[in-house]
Amino acid sequence: MKAFVVKEYAHPSKIPVTLDHPEPTVGPDTVLIDVYSAGLNFFDILQTQGKYQTKPPFPFVLGAEFAGTVARDSPIPPGCPLRPGQRVFGSAQGTYGERVAAHVSMIQPLPDTLSFDQGAGLFVTWPTSYEALVGRAQLKAGEWLLVTAAAGGVGIAAVQIAKALGAKVIAACSPSKMEVPLKYGGADHVVDYTKEGWQKEVLKITGGRGVDVVYDPVGRVKDSLKCIVWGGRVLVVGFAGGEIEKLPLNLVLLKHISVIGIFWGSYHQKNPSRAVEVWKELLELLSSGRVIPVVYTETYTLDTLVKGLDDLEKRKTWGKAIVRIREQPGEKAKL
Ligand SMILES: NC(=O)c1ccc[n+]([C@@H]2O[C@H](COP(=O)([O-])OP(=O)(O)OC[C@H]3O[C@@H](n4cnc5c(N)ncnc54)[C@H](OP(=O)(O)O)[C@@H]3O)[C@@H](O)[C@H]2O)c1
Repeated sequence: MKAFVVKEYAHPSKIPVTLDHPEPTVGPDTVLIDVYSAGLNFFDILQTQGKYQTKPPFPFVLGAEFAGTVARDSPIPPGCPLRPGQRVFGSAQGTYGERVAAHVSMIQPLPDTLSFDQGAGLFVTWPTSYEALVGRAQLKAGEWLLVTAAAGGVGIAAVQIAKALGAKVIAACSPSKMEVPLKYGGADHVVDYTKEGWQKEVLKITGGRGVDVVYDPVGRVKDSLKCIVWGGRVLVVGFAGGEIEKLPLNLVLLKHISVIGIFWGSYHQKNPSRAVEVWKELLELLSSGRVIPVVYTETYTLDTLVKGLDDLEKRKTWGKAIVRIREQPGEKAKL
């Protein structure tokens, strides 16, 4: 099969597409997926170079998120509700290939309302943002939320989910992306957080009060505390800025705030019953059309995947960047 195969550690730009990689085989509790679209992630670039925590043995196919169909010739484990041909999305190692073997616990049914492109970037970003806002920060209708990197994968999902919850959203992002959270996320306001003193704009928008909740996937918590309300909540989601942020605890005390972590990847092991609830609620929300996954306008193929990863590395993309693995006849978003 055609796939992006890593045979030794190298930057993605040095890796050619392989045309005749063997198809994966299934193990216990796994099914074969015909991959249609796959989501690009920054950690792919780290993984090809051996700089990511997950180091599969060589040769391995790159890619971690997919949308596709359960292969017609896939074995189905006993008791598994999946059926051959079913549209699904999920996560597995090796999604930049025409077929991938995925564990049944890492597969969800793809709502009819969503295209493969929209489904390919859902599996990690959307439950992370949903559980962060709903389960962890308990965001309420009418509250002010500040989202940093609001045009990025988890950020734009957070903006949409918060709007669906009835919150008022201030999106912060770099200047070239400011239209994205407004146009695709429904944010109420957007600020350029690369500008000195951007927090004053947030204070002005909130009538001098500050936001109730900060959602931060970048490492801009300390900056954001200049525009949080006394007693506010801060969600620590990630460190896209490249450094693990350190926070002086006197600020936590003086601002009387709660700093809340979210690690969605641990839920299946640490809190599986909540993971089931989150997926149920999220799939209902996604099916309702009140939220719509945002796909970056340039779609890549296996032949242009290196350009996609380069665009991602250079911080050009927004929403979820997608690589089309197969032709998708008649397949388009129904929203
Ligand atoms: N806690 C969890 O369970 C969980 C789950 C998923 C992801 N995450 C983490 O959340 C973070 C964001 O993930 P994502 O999927 O939203 O990523 P993404 O789509 O690549 O977006 C990241 C955004 O961060 C901003 N950014 C600021 N400084 C940056 C820098 N130095 N390099 C690159 N981007 C920079 C960029 O927006 P601007 O150009 O507008 O600044 C970029 O669009 C990652 O650190 C990821 O590991 C955590």
